[in-house]
Amino acid sequence: MTDSRIPTTRLGDDGPEVGVQGLGCMGMSFGYGPSDADQSRATLERALELGVTLYDTADAYGAGENERFLAPFVRAHRDELVIATKFALSIPPDDPTRRVIRNDAPYVRDAVEASLKRLDVDVIDLYYMHRRDVNVPIEETVGVMAELVREGKVKHLGLSEVTADELRAAQAVHPIAALQSEWSLFSRDIERQVVPAARELGVTVVPYSPLGRGFLTGSFANADTDLTADDFRRRQPRFTGANAEANAALLAPLRSVADAHGATPGQIALAWVHQRARVHDLPLVPIPGTRKPGRVEENTAATAIVLTDEELALLEPIAGRVAGDRYADMSFTSAGRE
Ligand SMILES: NC(=O)c1ccc[n+]([C@@H]2O[C@H](COP(=O)([O-])OP(=O)(O)OC[C@H]3O[C@@H](n4cnc5c(N)ncnc54)[C@H](OP(=O)(O)O)[C@@H]3O)[C@@H](O)[C@H]2O)c1
Repeated sequence: MTDSRIPTTRLGDDGPEVGVQGLGCMGMSFGYGPSDADQSRATLERALELGVTLYDTADAYGAGENERFLAPFVRAHRDELVIATKFALSIPPDDPTRRVIRNDAPYVRDAVEASLKRLDVDVIDLYYMHRRDVNVPIEETVGVMAELVREGKVKHLGLSEVTADELRAAQAVHPIAALQSEWSLFSRDIERQVVPAARELGVTVVPYSPLGRGFLTGSFANADTDLTADDFRRRQPRFTGANAEANAALLAPLRSVADAHGATPGQIALAWVHQRARVHDLPLVPIPGTRKPGRVEENTAATAIVLTDEELALLEPIAGRVAGDRYADMSFTSAGRE
């Protein structure tokens, strides 16, 4: 394994320059079964050595736990990295197991103060609206986010799972540096409207779950049997029951392309996402999540793999054949509101 650093790209027209691959930190505290804190810390450090500078978290990941976990790492490397966090999934006081989407100004103001405190920083580099509350005009939410920029609490703005129209309305209020949505060989709905809008507006796309939440690596085949009871993926229709079985059969072309490159299926899945930048002519920064230093080496190495047109053609039909939605409730995704 070489220590060569990955190339860089920019977030939005006037955002920071970051490594072309970021790191999703969610699984270190939330959603994907038990984690080893030492391994996770080693993963963060290894990623930075390899040129990964965009670190992704959210206040909702473990009800603040993920932000608190990242704080010492962020403090130790404050000027070398871009820390991105998100608001919008509130915990109702009467039921800590539920999440309610909140985009109203008082909520955003409370949320940013709590994230600043947990991350132990003076300013958040990239602040995302995590989910859209359709009862609040997006102009109002982005308006208060813009005030946070003017007040020096936040440097750049991002939105997650918004439609093309919502992105346009937001950009009219304040420049949006990053649009984060699911994008992988298994999830291509944003290519219909959201990606063309991001390109037109100069917004960098940040594909989340680029490894199909691990399914594309082959690290699990059926969430019912392979993952722990509290694993979030057991609630995702495409990873359970007959859907999972049908979807596992779709991975054959991915494995054959991987063999041809002497690479892993996960690396080819990531190379495919990186190559969307050329196909759609826009900057993008996928944020694969891992808690293992060896995997961050494997994932960053994928930035150097170039797939041929024939290989892209082999992989092209996969997404259209996936059985089951990416969430049980699609109403809070951009596809659910298009
Ligand atoms: N905006 C949103 O609504 C939203 C939603 C979901 C996620 N996200 C963000 O996006 C990030 C990435 O998405 P994700 O974590 O859901 O999915 P992902 O990146 O597609 O896949 C992560 C899974 O793949 C495994 N993995 C990673 N590299 C691997 C490798 N080289 N070989 C085998 N397995 C590997 C990880 O296991 P290990 O951790 O054990 O290595 C983990 O289980 C999250 O961390 C989060 O920050 C945002």
